[in-house]
Amino acid sequence: MTKLYKAGILGTGSCLPERKLTNAELENIVETSDEWITKRTGIRERRIIDDDLPLAKLAARAAENAIHDAGIVKEEIELIIAATLTPDYLTPNLACSVQKELQLSGVPAFDMNAACTGFVYALNVAQQFIENGACRYVLVVAAEALSRVTDYQDRKTCVLFGDGAGATVVGRVEDSAGIIGCTAGAYGELGHNLTIPCLYSTEEDREKRNEGKKQVIWMDGSEVFTFAARIMAEATLRVVSDAQLSVGDLDHIFPHQANARILKNAVKRLEYPIEKVYSNLEHTGNISAASIPVCLDEASKAGRLKKGDKIVLVAFGGGLTYGAMLLQWSK
Ligand code: UT7
Repeated sequence: MTKLYKAGILGTGSCLPERKLTNAELENIVETSDEWITKRTGIRERRIIDDDLPLAKLAARAAENAIHDAGIVKEEIELIIAATLTPDYLTPNLACSVQKELQLSGVPAFDMNAACTGFVYALNVAQQFIENGACRYVLVVAAEALSRVTDYQDRKTCVLFGDGAGATVVGRVEDSAGIIGCTAGAYGELGHNLTIPCLYSTEEDREKRNEGKKQVIWMDGSEVFTFAARIMAEATLRVVSDAQLSVGDLDHIFPHQANARILKNAVKRLEYPIEKVYSNLEHTGNISAASIPVCLDEASKAGRLKKGDKIVLVAFGGGLTYGAMLLQWSK
């Protein structure tokens, strides 16, 4: 591909639902304890979207924040990509609903589902549109309402997940800043370890779930855990070495927020200081595709990211999928 321009993140935004679901509240719902959840996951509370609020509205608020932060007007957006596994409708897709909320009639809009890796995949797609000159500004919004596909009778999953939205405006950047490289992949043969049936389900899918419930998450936690710790370390190393850098050159790592023990395990493999690994999962739980853009927005607004910082965004998720992106902060 002819690369005419360099792509980078110009603005970030996020929006979390106000309602909190604490570990203490979960103790009253399933057989669990604050001690178990905190020790095994690092999560203390997660946010839950109101029943009558479409995810598109939460996503649109995050998008508006990102557009404002980028210092552009919304009419300059030429493409909307939404990363989600919990859209309000199968059709219209979430990106079209966000487009409607933003009153950007006519702008192309599509969804990407790569589960928790969705944001990294979507950012990588947006990057192509910027680099080849097809678009000047692309809105990448990642939003999840995982509480709507969580079985609150299944203690192995219900303590983990939360809801939220994060967004970025991707556009042209000058000099050395911006996206340096990306590595991504998928292992469909491992997909059965983390599933949410939709329009079709097998007998096995139904047997795995409490009372044969259909559209809820089922996960083999330890299989996913092992995959996650290994692949996050491998993908980080690969994207950094492809750029002739080493992990020690990174100012921060922004990993998908799934479990504090996964982060510690991955970081240990990388021999990287845990203090430079951003984490907010204590207060958000796992919000799938939205987790990394929410972290980026928090870190950027808190002044923890400086222009020129070298960072890696790294995620794994259902599919099973993974992706790592190396960039130099351009704001
Ligand atoms: O974004 C991608 C999505 N997925 C993930 O990132 C998840 C990756 N996996 C994990 O984070 C961990 O595997 C879990 C947090 C899901 C589970 O932690 P674990 O240390 O792997 O626990 P385990 O599944 O091996 O279960 C250990 C014990 C079991 O009891 P027995 O069979 O030893 O008596 C479970 O039944 O802990 C029990 N258990 C719980 N106990 C209290 C499982 N969940 C709970 C719970 N409260 N919520």
